[in-house]
Amino acid sequence: MFITFEGPDGSGKTTQVQKIVHTLMEEGYDVVTTREPGGTEISNQVREVIMNLRNKNMFPRTEILLFCSARAQLVEEVIRPALLTGKIVISDRYSDSTLAYQGFGHGFDQQTLKQLLNFATGSLWPDLTFLLDISAEKGLQRRISNKVEWNRMDDYQLAFHQRVRDGYKSLVEESPDRWEVIDADQAENLIQDEIKRRIHIRLDKFLREISIGEKK
Ligand code: TYD
Repeated sequence: MFITFEGPDGSGKTTQVQKIVHTLMEEGYDVVTTREPGGTEISNQVREVIMNLRNKNMFPRTEILLFCSARAQLVEEVIRPALLTGKIVISDRYSDSTLAYQGFGHGFDQQTLKQLLNFATGSLWPDLTFLLDISAEKGLQRRISNKVEWNRMDDYQLAFHQRVRDGYKSLVEESPDRWEVIDADQAENLIQDEIKRRIHIRLDKFLREISIGEKK
């Protein structure tokens, strides 16, 4: 099963991903975890180019292709092989980030981006995606107060990050069955409890469907 976590900057995704992975592993699930952009040696080198504040004159089209190239490597090297051996893969960000940030944020056409994403990933989409929903303003406040290392993406205007947040909501409306939306403006442990509850419901359903499929 392929599970991804999405959300605006400062939504607390990374902490929540680490915690749920830890829990699932303790429960005996075979979990592979990764993050985007990055997750392989080559993808991390691409990440450095995307994030570096020195690259302020990077054009959005360049940015899109770099995100896609980092993802192509990650899918081939890590995600698909893990899924093929029956593991649970949990990724901190994936293709929906491109649709939200480069699509809604920069204003690129969704259909064109989906074609590019399908090319980059061999049309691999998650079975389940969590949206940790928070306003762009609160996300920004959190990043400032947590003194998170500032990167080139953080440097985009607040209006860009507002479009990203609204964009995520449109993506949820487009395919509601794939998404679980969680209010990320609450205490860390409450968010984690909610993720845990919903992930178990989805995992049980997924595993049941697989075993029915195998019996047929
Ligand atoms: P990162 O420091 O990993 O932050 P976060 O914890 O919010 O994931 O930075 C990743 C940044 O790159 C973040 O601003 C989102 C952005 N991004 C895109 O714009 N498009 C993408 O396809 C991906 C994967 C990330």
